[in-house]
Amino acid sequence: MKIAMLSPECSPIAKVGGLADVVIGLSKSLQLQGHDVSIILPKYDCMRYDQISNLETVYYDLPVMYRGEWQANDVMSGVVEGVKCFFIDGKWHKNFFNRGKIYGESDDNDRFAFFSKAAMEFMFKVGMDPDIIHSHDWPTALANVLQREIYYKEGMRKPRLVYTVHNFAHQGIAHESVLGDLGLNSAMLPLECRENDYSIVNFMKSAVVYSDYITTVSPNYANEVQLTEKGMGLQYLLNKYHHKFSGILNGIDEEYWNPKDDQYLSHHYDVEAIENKYKNKEVLRERFLLRDEYKPIVAVVSRLVQQKGVDLIKHSIFYALEQGAQFVLLGSSPDPNISYEFAEIKDMLNENPDCHLEFGFNEALSHLVYAGADMILIPSLFEPCGLTQLIGMRYGTVPVARFTGGLADTVHDVEYSRVSQKRRNGYTFIDANKEGLEFGLGRAIDDWFNEPQQFRNLVNNGMKSDFSWKMSAKKYVKIYKYLHSQV
Ligand code: ADP
Ligand code: GLC
Repeated sequence: MKIAMLSPECSPIAKVGGLADVVIGLSKSLQLQGHDVSIILPKYDCMRYDQISNLETVYYDLPVMYRGEWQANDVMSGVVEGVKCFFIDGKWHKNFFNRGKIYGESDDNDRFAFFSKAAMEFMFKVGMDPDIIHSHDWPTALANVLQREIYYKEGMRKPRLVYTVHNFAHQGIAHESVLGDLGLNSAMLPLECRENDYSIVNFMKSAVVYSDYITTVSPNYANEVQLTEKGMGLQYLLNKYHHKFSGILNGIDEEYWNPKDDQYLSHHYDVEAIENKYKNKEVLRERFLLRDEYKPIVAVVSRLVQQKGVDLIKHSIFYALEQGAQFVLLGSSPDPNISYEFAEIKDMLNENPDCHLEFGFNEALSHLVYAGADMILIPSLFEPCGLTQLIGMRYGTVPVARFTGGLADTVHDVEYSRVSQKRRNGYTFIDANKEGLEFGLGRAIDDWFNEPQQFRNLVNNGMKSDFSWKMSAKKYVKIYKYLHSQV
């Protein structure tokens, strides 16, 4: 089948979070299963161009009707991790994608609405004619409306539209003038695609209404968003459209995240020969100037935003140290207040030889942290899927996670889980408060010191688990094929 992925992110060239990993991981797996996949992205100035091969311009001056004028944009193609990608430059309008970062601009709604239109225009002009257009999250949501309201009517075939929500917390909300900018008659957009104030359009609601199928990134989160406030106001709509909505668990790209030949590690290992993991622990300790060798290392690798449980992360630093563990954090925050609070903690703990907080986004260092730590802590308030627990397990690093969203689908508590002993792989806690966190992390640290065999079993079980894309990609294919058969 011919599949066009529309996304604002793609690993390793344009990554902010897990969406980037999912887009490339899923695309590679679909390709391996014989499908023809293209990924369409904005052409950001801040992409990692060294990771793109065969980069060339394939369309000069693609005319896109935006704000009532035909505007010319160049489109380039290239190959990322073996997958064909197209990049749309958005050069004419205030350099939409030359901002040094992917999100966080005051005109993000306009930038990505424009991208959705340009991507549709490109597919239409070059006759790409995909069977499936698979768009991701709020930035590409309006592509679904554009396909049905403009391009289909202008003669483009009717591809099936699949839409994946990676996070219901970010929906894309803008005045309806955004529709006029794209050449849509704003009166046609149904009320259920809007906010209570009907002049405000909700991108995500629109995609839910217009898509043939909607997925989110874990079965448990799919239930949570229909039944609780985690649906962030979309509960009603998701219940109405429940017949075309389900959760498919994310995988990880096991080729890229592989301790056996990880390009960023100098000591490789696997579950049969794990000694080298502890050499990575030494490298990590040296790098972060952690003194003591005989302590477990608790790690956090995260965007530092409220979703991730920032208050619990802060508490865990002091708690882990009190319990005799070491603590490392690799994190970055778009929120200056949160950055400041962590910087203060770093100053306070400056002389502490058991703790290191590293700020910024650092792909290479994240691999060393996964490989060198003993435990990875994920105390999220909500978590659609979460990839760091999966990556941690792949590297023999035991997850300590809050029992929510996809974390509850993937982390099985050593004592309290209902799955068989062989599948238990970590520690979970329910309460999003200090007591909850201490219950989870306290048991993990205690077992590391006092129940090493039990802890080692968790390491082994995690490393042996299959979190590859194979099964999940098959579930997407099943949906694609079902929709295709309805044409
Ligand atoms: P989210 O997408 O909500 O941020 P996920 O757990 O799905 O959470 O994915 C996070 C991805 O981003 C993982 O690949 C993780 O390794 C990576 N990551 C998060 N913070 C950093 C950082 N500071 N440096 C490098 N990689 C990071
Ligand atoms: C979002 C979610 C995260 C998920 C990722 C990839 O960023 O916050 O839980 O793993 O998307 O789907």
